[in-house]
Amino acid sequence: MLRKIPTTAVPLSIFEILKGFKSYFGNKSYIEEFEQGFANYMGANHAFSFNKCTTSIYIFLKALKKFSNRQEVVIPAYTVPTLVLPIRKAGLKPVLCESSLDTFTMDFERLPEVINDNTLCVLPIYHFGFPYKIDTLLKLAKEKGFFVLEDAAQAPGAISGGKKVGTLGDAGCFSLCRGKNFSTVNGGMLVTNSDKLAKIIREEKDLLPKQDFSFKAKIPLILTAYSLVTRPLIYGLFYKLIAPFKHTTVHDGFESKQYSDFQAIIGMSLLKKLDVLNEIRLKKGMTLYNALKNNKHLILPKIAENSTPVFNHLPVVFKEINTMEKVQAMLWDRGIDTGRMYLKPVHHLYDLGYDMQTELFPGALYIAERLITLPSHPYLDDNSIDNIINVFKSI
Ligand SMILES: Cc1ncc(COP(=O)(O)O)c(C=O)c1O
Repeated sequence: MLRKIPTTAVPLSIFEILKGFKSYFGNKSYIEEFEQGFANYMGANHAFSFNKCTTSIYIFLKALKKFSNRQEVVIPAYTVPTLVLPIRKAGLKPVLCESSLDTFTMDFERLPEVINDNTLCVLPIYHFGFPYKIDTLLKLAKEKGFFVLEDAAQAPGAISGGKKVGTLGDAGCFSLCRGKNFSTVNGGMLVTNSDKLAKIIREEKDLLPKQDFSFKAKIPLILTAYSLVTRPLIYGLFYKLIAPFKHTTVHDGFESKQYSDFQAIIGMSLLKKLDVLNEIRLKKGMTLYNALKNNKHLILPKIAENSTPVFNHLPVVFKEINTMEKVQAMLWDRGIDTGRMYLKPVHHLYDLGYDMQTELFPGALYIAERLITLPSHPYLDDNSIDNIINVFKSI
């Protein structure tokens, strides 16, 4: 089969990319306009843009250090491993909390075990675009005096209790990297309602270097390549060339920079259609979710009451690893690519000082070894949805 449905895609037209060239002329700051638009969309008082979500986390944690001497930052044991980097760069200590098989994210019931007088901040992460209630976490934060940074990197536009996720805690961060449902190939956003925090974040942001000439020259080409290679026919035809770019390695560091005006123009365009695209994802994602939720081989994440997920992907955990491998191969033969996100828990990839003799986070390990992501993006057509459902029915 020539066509292959990629694991992830954001429909971005060449016309939308061409609009970015406006940024090469005149003195107008498109970044500020985009930040204002993003804040309005989220219903937040302030929004700040960066070259990466990782940078936004680093800047936020740096800002917190002006308010507190506490040192520990809690993340789930199953997550994007590179979250360790902004924590360490800010001179702080990453602490892990067990992951839940109900939500595939932090097990809030286990959180009190890792909270202490040294806890500066907790990052609830809305993996795969699924929001969860964080009321108990917010209550605990008030009692114990720590901050909450919602990591909504994969969930821009998702709603919990009538509010956009990312606006429920002290701040929220979002990733605009490839693979996300709101992507300008790279970029990161930070929103907050706190004027005090916003003042420091702005000062720190202004100190970051701007994107250099070579980035400005390359970004139109990178965006064009991204727009093309996520289209099923091109993805299928050139898969061998594309595949090496799909795999993310574990890094030792990252560069903190400002966002670019070129991408801000694309970001404004995407922001206008984000709700429509999320609606399409929700429809496709829910069709798959409802078809798979009673499959005896699988565990699916619970959908929280009064919440609207944005299906960055549909994650499924297999009870048997053999079945997972079989299903991946069958889907590939039917023209559907699947992802394996975070193959190991964080402490298996970075030395965080945990004892490795006994597995301290069995829930996180279970998820890491058995989870695949199914596509739920706008390029997933009805025929491919039927193919996915039929493959799962056959096991
Ligand atoms: C949950 C989560 N947090 C943070 C990040 C980091 O985002 P970025 O690559 O934009 O720095 C990602 C990206 O994969 C993510 O999925």
